[in-house]
Amino acid sequence: MGNSADRPAIAFAFEQVRQRSVQLAEPLSPEDCCAQSMPDASPVKWHLAHTTWFFETFILEPREAHFQPFHPAFRVLFNSYYNGVGDKHPRPHRGLLTRPALHEVLAYRADVDRRIARLLAAQPADPELAALLELGLQHEQQHQELLLTDVKHLLAQSPLYPAYRDAPLSSSAPSAPAALAAWIDFDGGLAEIGHAGQGFAFDNELPRHRQYLAPFALASHLATNADYLEFIEAGGYRDPSLWLSEGWDKVKSGEMAHPLYWRRSDERGAGWQEFTLHGLQPLDPARPVTHVSLYEADAYARWRGARLPTEAEWEFAADDSRLAQMFGECWQWTASSYAPYPGFAPAAGALGEYNGKFMINQYVLRGSSCATPHGHTRASYRNFFPAGARWQFTGIRLAR
Ligand SMILES: [Fe+2]
Repeated sequence: MGNSADRPAIAFAFEQVRQRSVQLAEPLSPEDCCAQSMPDASPVKWHLAHTTWFFETFILEPREAHFQPFHPAFRVLFNSYYNGVGDKHPRPHRGLLTRPALHEVLAYRADVDRRIARLLAAQPADPELAALLELGLQHEQQHQELLLTDVKHLLAQSPLYPAYRDAPLSSSAPSAPAALAAWIDFDGGLAEIGHAGQGFAFDNELPRHRQYLAPFALASHLATNADYLEFIEAGGYRDPSLWLSEGWDKVKSGEMAHPLYWRRSDERGAGWQEFTLHGLQPLDPARPVTHVSLYEADAYARWRGARLPTEAEWEFAADDSRLAQMFGECWQWTASSYAPYPGFAPAAGALGEYNGKFMINQYVLRGSSCATPHGHTRASYRNFFPAGARWQFTGIRLAR
């Protein structure tokens, strides 16, 4: 990244990624962009502003001569969780920020974009600047996925079940009859786990290290809606022996009785439907089941006489061509707690808060989803969510 010949590449990437965020908001009204459907989800407007704040705070502020913030209040309003930067606006109240208006946030984006371009033109060969820009773009791509998952959750609250857009989100072919998942065997042994090579990786994918794996098998395909419906119809949500204690509590309290966006219609013949980014659709039996918690994934696996893979098994097997749907469908829950790899060292300063401080009470998901931006996918990628999270595109690959 360090030489000037690479400058156009990062400048081009910057333009592309920044434009894509604005494009993702285009099907939405300003009202859509302001609302927050739950504390875990953020308004679209907040995503657009916070990703801009990241570049302003971590690149422009330390590097721009005579730095002036676009607006002094934005430093607090659009700080997500960086205590090293200072105060932050409470996360559950992001949806109450009717000001700044969407058009002001778009002006904020344009201003920061101009200033970053100017900085890059003045310091074309600065490897540290290039690395920070790359991190900022990877961060923005993570928020592009969150923007879509948060919009889906928001629109799902409306009895009108509005479509985010009419065409299906995924470019994958219409589903064929459900492929019968086969068991693919792996010998295991001493495996190298973690990011290797020169490309970008987050700090949580490092350092690469060795792990011993006993022989194991993975399902060739993700569990489908039809597979999961069998579990429901067989009384899976009524059998406490299948459930982790916290999950059973949520089943008993009525919080979970089927995947998050499934609806059972009383209208004649409609049966199960699923809310999607292109509206309410008949449940497609061949598609991978998605929007399930770790509790549900784990109970389903137990009911099938199987288990969830560990993250090391998943990564070890990831480049095997006999495995389908590893990327681009749903994030796959693993049985692995989100913990530091041996020798993990977070970055210095406030950016060290990016990943390390979240390594508690969460589980690792592997792969990528239909909402993950192109080029933001790799076998060593570690996504993570609490066991009860269901609003991400989360799915199930069985292991044994
Ligand atoms: Fe962020």
